[in-house]
Amino acid sequence: MKLRILLTGKRGQIGAQLAALLPRLGEIAAYDRNELDLSNPDHLRRAIQDVQPNMIVNAAAYTSVDQAEREEKQARIVNVDAPGLMAEEAKRIGALLVHYSTDYVFDGSSSVPYLEIDKPNPINVYGKTKLAGEEAIRAVGAPHLIFRTAWVYGATGRNFLLTMLRLATEREELKVVRDQFGTPTWSHEIAEGTVKVLEQLAQQGREAISKFGGTYHMTAGGKTSWFEFAKGILAEASRMPRGITWFETATKGQVLLTRRITGIATEEYPTPARRPAYSVLSNSRLKLNFGLKLPAWSLQLRAVFAEGRING
Ligand SMILES: NC(=O)c1ccc[n+]([C@@H]2O[C@H](COP(=O)([O-])OP(=O)(O)OC[C@H]3O[C@@H](n4cnc5c(N)ncnc54)[C@H](OP(=O)(O)O)[C@@H]3O)[C@@H](O)[C@H]2O)c1
Repeated sequence: MKLRILLTGKRGQIGAQLAALLPRLGEIAAYDRNELDLSNPDHLRRAIQDVQPNMIVNAAAYTSVDQAEREEKQARIVNVDAPGLMAEEAKRIGALLVHYSTDYVFDGSSSVPYLEIDKPNPINVYGKTKLAGEEAIRAVGAPHLIFRTAWVYGATGRNFLLTMLRLATEREELKVVRDQFGTPTWSHEIAEGTVKVLEQLAQQGREAISKFGGTYHMTAGGKTSWFEFAKGILAEASRMPRGITWFETATKGQVLLTRRITGIATEEYPTPARRPAYSVLSNSRLKLNFGLKLPAWSLQLRAVFAEGRING
């Protein structure tokens, strides 16, 4: 039987990758914000009832971490109320809900990778709404998968990689935070990992979902700081040939000016939202239950530049 999949957030970093890969599993009805606004509960409910999907994949979210500090109400509508409603509808029609969450549900006081069983304690509004979204889904009791990921980037979208490439064309020196540790993860690998998990579950049938459902950490391997990540980005960028479409867009065709990258402390770069100092996630549950291990962050970074070369 061909699966019917409803995808939200199809123009987001992860959503766009999922829109390309999910057709491997079945027929997809994919929506962007204009076609399906998560802050309109009637519209959301109606869309699910019209499509009658076997799977709802929610890649939409309120993701502006700093802006959320002053827009908590809007962040809650999208990150808590909408996933809760999706879970209710999923339960009613017997669909699986696939949802994404974040390393920012943790406070960063650990010094070893966080497990799914570790107690969350978000320190900013975005993290609080994402945790409340997870809890809303669990409370409904619909079959679900929640993938917590981290530091998402890719060749398109709003992300740290593209910000660094833009700044590198504008400034001779970049100052980047050196005392926050996490794992940059390429949006494409998250979508690929998601589809691999769903393929396994689809093959195994309904009991597999009750056995293997729940919350999983899904990030690249390893750990780094924003400072080291920025250095890696500029090292890759300095080797890029001209004429690669995504890279030309990211740099507006300008030459890279940056000669020095300096590591700074978090206090030297104040932001409206606090960030955890350490948010590395252990992916051992993903490996144990699905045999899945995403490549190390440095290999993923290299692959983004290499893919651009092939596709551009
Ligand atoms: N980005 C990260 O570093 C990161 C880290 C950890 C976890 N995550 C999680 O991963 C998931 C995907 O994140 P991402 O990086 O792909 O985010 P993204 O690129 O910001 O994509 C989110 C998408 O959601 C859409 N959206 C926002 N409000 C909406 C609404 N009211 N109705 C419908 N669509 C709406 C956005 O549309 P517009 O473009 O029109 O705003 C955007 O296309 C989220 O659950 C996020 O919390 C992300």
